[in-house]
Amino acid sequence: MTLFVTGGAGFIGSNFIFYMLEQHPAYRVVCLDQLTYAGNLSTLAPVMHQQNFRFVKIDICDREAIDQLFAEEHPDVVVNFAAESHVDRSIENPSVFLQTNIMGTATLMDACRHYGIQRFHQVSTDEVYGDLPLDRPDLFFTEETPIHTSSPYSSSKASADLLALAYHRTYGLPVTISRCSNNYGPYQFPEKLIPLMIANAMHDRPLPVYGQGLNVRDWLYVEDHCKAIDLILQHGQVGEVYNVGGHNEMRNIDIVKLICKELGKSESLITYVKDRKGHDLRYAIDPTKIHKELGWLPETKFEDGIRKTIHWYQEHQNWWENIISGEYQEYYMKMYGKDKW
Ligand code: NAD
Ligand code: DAU
Repeated sequence: MTLFVTGGAGFIGSNFIFYMLEQHPAYRVVCLDQLTYAGNLSTLAPVMHQQNFRFVKIDICDREAIDQLFAEEHPDVVVNFAAESHVDRSIENPSVFLQTNIMGTATLMDACRHYGIQRFHQVSTDEVYGDLPLDRPDLFFTEETPIHTSSPYSSSKASADLLALAYHRTYGLPVTISRCSNNYGPYQFPEKLIPLMIANAMHDRPLPVYGQGLNVRDWLYVEDHCKAIDLILQHGQVGEVYNVGGHNEMRNIDIVKLICKELGKSESLITYVKDRKGHDLRYAIDPTKIHKELGWLPETKFEDGIRKTIHWYQEHQNWWENIISGEYQEYYMKMYGKDKW
């Protein structure tokens, strides 16, 4: 079994590679990653010299290079994590999101059609459903909820989902899709809420909360997401979409306060900043389908997962200090202003 994991030098993809190599030691895993600002080769150091692991620096939009790699490796399964993943960056510069998230997915699926594949799995997001109101806690996203996107990022992911389903219907490509809620855990790039707040709090820097911090996200520990994808690969039905989420809704401000408490920092670091344009109010996944059909349930409780995550960032300061020393500083100044650094 040869498994292609695209975007495997990023947050969820790297966690997935570690998970799969551990769970399926007989698999050969090939990581395809362009190493954009969000990809970090040092993350993969623990597996880099394993016999059954190969890293290839490649752009998923590069048709020729992708075809060559498919011809060489003949993958059985492709799991596509590669994407531009940060909503705020998509608001600043949508075009790279359209290129990677839509054209890159199409390029991979064309290679799958050409060379044959047992499964193409598209890693998607709950953001394709848009948002839910704050005053209707009875509402959840199901797989039947209409696509209704807010940002260039979510629109590009929704486009890729529609293309994947079209390739299944038109060409019979064996596609599955998972739409997961917000992940947290080790190796998440510090531009995202949880690692950004941990890193800033550890440096006693301001903690920039958008608007009033009342937006709600549904948080899932990254390993539970990896386990869900593995289950979908083993037992999922082709042509199907599976929502993944753990009924763990939290307001942003409560997460930031919790991080302050765990790190022993004062809440006076919290700074309310200008809201995100088109900011989605609430995400909440109904995971009934994956639970009933595949027996998936999250295993990590939020209070344990967040402690493990904070501890990981304390223990791996070198990993994120290296990241925030480069391009990230320019991005940060532009987003939040000089006085917030
Ligand atoms: P990430 O930004 O941490 O990692 C993305 C990876 O893709 C990086 O290693 C980057 O180098 C690589 N990449 C980008 N463009 C590429 C290209 N053209 N060719 C090859 N590689 C390229 O992202 P993440 O948070 O790990 O998210 C992974 C996937 O999961 C994305 O598709 C995202 O939409 C989806 N997702 C993320 C979350 C979340 O909470 N982070 C939740 C649900 C779904
Ligand atoms: O729901 C799944 C999605 O979750 C994934 O598809 C995306 O790839 C991933 O980035 C994430 O999107 P969000 O926009 O929800 O995540 P982010 O960490 O950027 O923000 C979480 C919430 O925190 C959101 O309401 C905005 C807010 N926020 C974020 C940042 C970076 C702040 O208040 N301050 C900040 O500095």
